[in-house]
Amino acid sequence: MLKIPEDLDTEQKEAYNKAWLETFYTLVKGLKLIVFIIACTLIYIPFGKYIPDWFESNPEYQPTNSTIVSSEMEEDFDKVENGIHLQTGLIYAPGFDQVRAQCTVCHSAKLVTQNRATKEGWAQMIEWMQQTQGLRDLGPDEDRILDYLAANYAPEEKGRRENLNIKEVEWYILNLEN
Ligand code: HEC
Repeated sequence: MLKIPEDLDTEQKEAYNKAWLETFYTLVKGLKLIVFIIACTLIYIPFGKYIPDWFESNPEYQPTNSTIVSSEMEEDFDKVENGIHLQTGLIYAPGFDQVRAQCTVCHSAKLVTQNRATKEGWAQMIEWMQQTQGLRDLGPDEDRILDYLAANYAPEEKGRRENLNIKEVEWYILNLEN
């Protein structure tokens, strides 16, 4: 403590001491505040980045994980199995890239895969879409696309037997007696 000047009377000495103590306590309070701020800063530096999580409305939601899952799925989907491109269902053959790029914009590739036609038939469908559905000119891709469609989505073999040629059938009488 500071030395109290000798020439003070008792009352003055008390007042002197009091004033000194008050100053001391103010200093201590100030120090406490500084220590508190430093402590907060030290805690904030390593853990501060987690604080926003506490205020997250849905703590279960983890966007990072779900992105990983969906990109894994996409990778899985962009595969070819047994000659079929899994994501689109299109046959994986020359011209696939062009068809995928041009023909899956407006509708799913299912419309392509569930149809069968000759090259002319496909050309007509494309022309119909160009005239009525806003399909743009396919430019140099058109030939490749038509070749691809005609080769992979050609009319299927005749599914039912051909009509009988009645003139050539040898008729006989069915005998029910014996
Ligand atoms: C600009 C948009 C657009 C693009 C691109 C497009 N189509 Fe279409 N396509 C349509 C619309 C619209 C329909 C009618 C859909 C419906 O009936 O639900 C259609 C229908 C079809 C159909 C069914 C036709 C029928 O008779 O049922 C086939 C097959 C088809 N498209 C093949 C293709 C092929 C092959 C390509 C690539 C060259 C292609 N589409 C690109 C818009 C498009």
